Amino acid sequence: MSLVQTKDMFKKAYGKYAVGAFNVNNMEILQGVVEAAKEEKAPLILQISKGARNYAKLVYLMKLIEAATIDAPDVPIAVHLDHGDSFELCKEVIDAGFTSVMIDGSHLPFNENIAITKKVVEYAHPRGVVVEGELGKLIGIEEHVVSTEAVYTDPVAAVEFVEKTSVDSLAIAIGTSHGAYKFKGEAKLDFERLQEIAKRLPGLPLVLHGASSVLPELVQKANQYGARLGDAKGVPEDMIRKSTKMGICKVNIDTDLRLAVTSSVREQIALHPEEFDPRKYLGAARDSVREVVKHKMKEVLDCSGQA
Ligand code: G3H
Ligand code: 13P
Ligand code: ZN
Repeated sequence: MSLVQTKDMFKKAYGKYAVGAFNVNNMEILQGVVEAAKEEKAPLILQISKGARNYAKLVYLMKLIEAATIDAPDVPIAVHLDHGDSFELCKEVIDAGFTSVMIDGSHLPFNENIAITKKVVEYAHPRGVVVEGELGKLIGIEEHVVSTEAVYTDPVAAVEFVEKTSVDSLAIAIGTSHGAYKFKGEAKLDFERLQEIAKRLPGLPLVLHGASSVLPELVQKANQYGARLGDAKGVPEDMIRKSTKMGICKVNIDTDLRLAVTSSVREQIALHPEEFDPRKYLGAARDSVREVVKHKMKEVLDCSGQA
């Protein structure tokens, strides 16, 4: 199957389940994610950040993804730009074959966010590409912009934003953040706000960034083999599951894949000090990514069998 965009995926999912958007940075992560989607018969969004492009180069990632569509012909796969920070970048990746882009103007004043998002939509839509906008700020680091204060999405402003930009989906801030240290104390999301946004924007696919659960067993395994991930804490899985029944159609996961790779590589190197073939520990890391993604699809997102 050639690459698809997300409109139909989200329409089918709305209110029932969510599609996982997994960040891919290299072949092993990509293969692990795609193998999981194949086994679970689940729709899939592969997302590429600026960091991923800097690390692997866009052409390599696109060729690997093209290979994935051949290897997994029955899996609907969308390729999405994660946290696009300029019109030029969005244009470049649309021209390179992405089927979906995010323009993240969340750090800009409201009217500037509207202006840049609208400009991207006007370029993307005639080319059959969908656009995700963001309103509200996640605490922590968003594509190298550090935000010390979370600003939750205002439901009234969200309606104006969507009307004025014609975005296809909206990333909202309700208490999640990027990375492995999401909550100091108890995990808490603002579900009332989510409900209000969904009520005012009926049927509009909503997106949850910073949605890794920072799986305790992976943190524990990494620490056992020398990592120092003391207070790592993610979004509890039941909260993610709840959000997928309330209008969240796309759930962004990167940190949990990083933890799957790191814990596995650490374990392999510690247990087999005589081994120096990278295929041994990278192969194990790929298996670990596959198992984590299968778990997400089946137990958290409920998207198994929806391909
Ligand atoms: O939203 C952030 C993603 O986890 C991507 O992070 O830019 O380090 O690849 P990155
Ligand atoms: P995590 O850091 O929780 O995996 O979030 C990833 C993300 O939102 C990518 O856009
Ligand atoms: Zn994000």
